[in-house]
Amino acid sequence: MVKKWWHNTIGYQIYPKSFQDTNGDGIGDLKGVTAHLDDLADLGINVIWLCPINKSPMKDHGYDISDYEEIDPMFGCKDDLVELIQEADKHGIKILMDLVVNHTSVEHPWFQKALAEPNGKYGKYYIIKEGKDGREPNNWRSIFGGSAWEQIENTNLYYLHLFTKWQPDLNWENPILREKIYEMVNGWLDLGIKGFRIDAISHLKKDFTYQDLPSDGIDGYVDGFPYFSNVNGIGDFLAELRERTFARYDAMTIGEVDEGLPPDILLDFIGENGYFSTIFDFCHAKFLINSAQWKGSLTEMIDALKKCLFAKQNTINGKGMLCNYLENHDLPRIVERFIPEEEIDFYSKSMTGSINFFMPGIVFLYQGQAIGMMNYKKESITAFQDPTTFTQYAEYLKNGMTEAEALAQINLETREHARTPMQWTSEPYAGFSKSKPWFAVNPNYKQINYESQKNDPDSLYSFYKKMVALRKSETYQDLFIYGDIVPMYETESGIIGYERRLNNKSVLIVINAKPNETVLLLSRKIKGVLLSNYKKIMLQDDVLRLQRFQILVLDSDKN
Ligand code: GLC
Ligand code: CA
Repeated sequence: MVKKWWHNTIGYQIYPKSFQDTNGDGIGDLKGVTAHLDDLADLGINVIWLCPINKSPMKDHGYDISDYEEIDPMFGCKDDLVELIQEADKHGIKILMDLVVNHTSVEHPWFQKALAEPNGKYGKYYIIKEGKDGREPNNWRSIFGGSAWEQIENTNLYYLHLFTKWQPDLNWENPILREKIYEMVNGWLDLGIKGFRIDAISHLKKDFTYQDLPSDGIDGYVDGFPYFSNVNGIGDFLAELRERTFARYDAMTIGEVDEGLPPDILLDFIGENGYFSTIFDFCHAKFLINSAQWKGSLTEMIDALKKCLFAKQNTINGKGMLCNYLENHDLPRIVERFIPEEEIDFYSKSMTGSINFFMPGIVFLYQGQAIGMMNYKKESITAFQDPTTFTQYAEYLKNGMTEAEALAQINLETREHARTPMQWTSEPYAGFSKSKPWFAVNPNYKQINYESQKNDPDSLYSFYKKMVALRKSETYQDLFIYGDIVPMYETESGIIGYERRLNNKSVLIVINAKPNETVLLLSRKIKGVLLSNYKKIMLQDDVLRLQRFQILVLDSDKN
């Protein structure tokens, strides 16, 4: 593989609203990111992805952009961004933005003009169709629930919105719109942005041959994914986007694709000449330990998860870069997704963090992950903020759940858990802000916060720091980035084991994802221990006794 600067990335995702407030309005801002660059450099990361900071009415917390050229005043101004880019550079950190180009906000001037004149120039920037027999053009369901179409007042016209009704989809078939997007993207790259995470990229192309299909729910709608997700021909748009923008700047790009990306086109996306540097896929996102599927059965869930992780590696087979992330702003905290409540502690948290960390691919951590931030379960549905939470809750009630059941389900799965303010200190509001934050701080901040962990060699934060340092170490970085992966102990239930090999080096990773001891027979001579979440290593000859939730990275002989 031809080496690229972004192959050696330990990325860190920031949800700016919840990272650090510096002006006392209770909302995180760009200056807050700059203020923590020393801390981020201490962890060892070298790329930051900022969730959307463009001007937005914030119906979807910034994923509804009303001005692509401007920063939302809530976060600061362009000068603040330039300052962040420059200061980050001094710390060896590059800044990526979020590129949301599947849709805009309804408040974007393009959409306002489209509404005023649906058959005019700007009407062609969006997907506007005639209704059928007094209802929507077809029965597609929005990804966020309800119809994917919204009627334009006093007309028989409807606009498509795959997400909320405040996020009308852009019409990528229109070359004029595409030009506008390229211009805008290049503007940010000229400013010093080193790349983008590209939102909802699977959906740029829609298949409009599709009419109504039999509904798959009591709402009368149907899940139309095959018709708006990685549809044939999407590659033309993505290749053009790459050529006209990213490729000219050697930018790092991460496409958000859903699980449905067929293996035969995976390399078109992330192969050497792929549309993107890497992708965020949803392979592990569906694994929830307390869901009806797993009912708390950790070993079974881990076995299914490991199959999925290895299968993905096998498909890519060293010919492209996957991205090893676990948390983001759309998912509950990882430890509660994977670990039964009664087993949550330092060992299960550190084990969880390591699950895909040493696999081929680049790494992304999410704010709060390295200190083990947890879900903050709410006692009332009104304590949530996100429109999608309310739509989901209403759907549960419609489907016959009681209010208590619906709330319990929301508390299990809501993406809002990832959005509580960052827990920096044990001071009021966790040191996130001097005034009441926009979203309540998790009351556990006195026990779980950055300040109490940063200098404690036995903390979770220190463990993450060691993982980062090992991946980045001169001796092993090439092995972790470019080395082969050879799965091991595949039939051992609850064990994730594999070898990484490059030239004459070989490293063995063994993870015991079970709350009880396990014995493994080693077929390699061990030369040294590179990392463990336990002080005691129980290795005698070729017998390795793995403690509860132990993870070990071992330097081993190649044969
Ligand atoms: C992506 C974002 C999510 C957002 C959606 C619509 O999935 O990660 O937060 O709501 O796109 O833009
Ligand atoms: Ca602020």
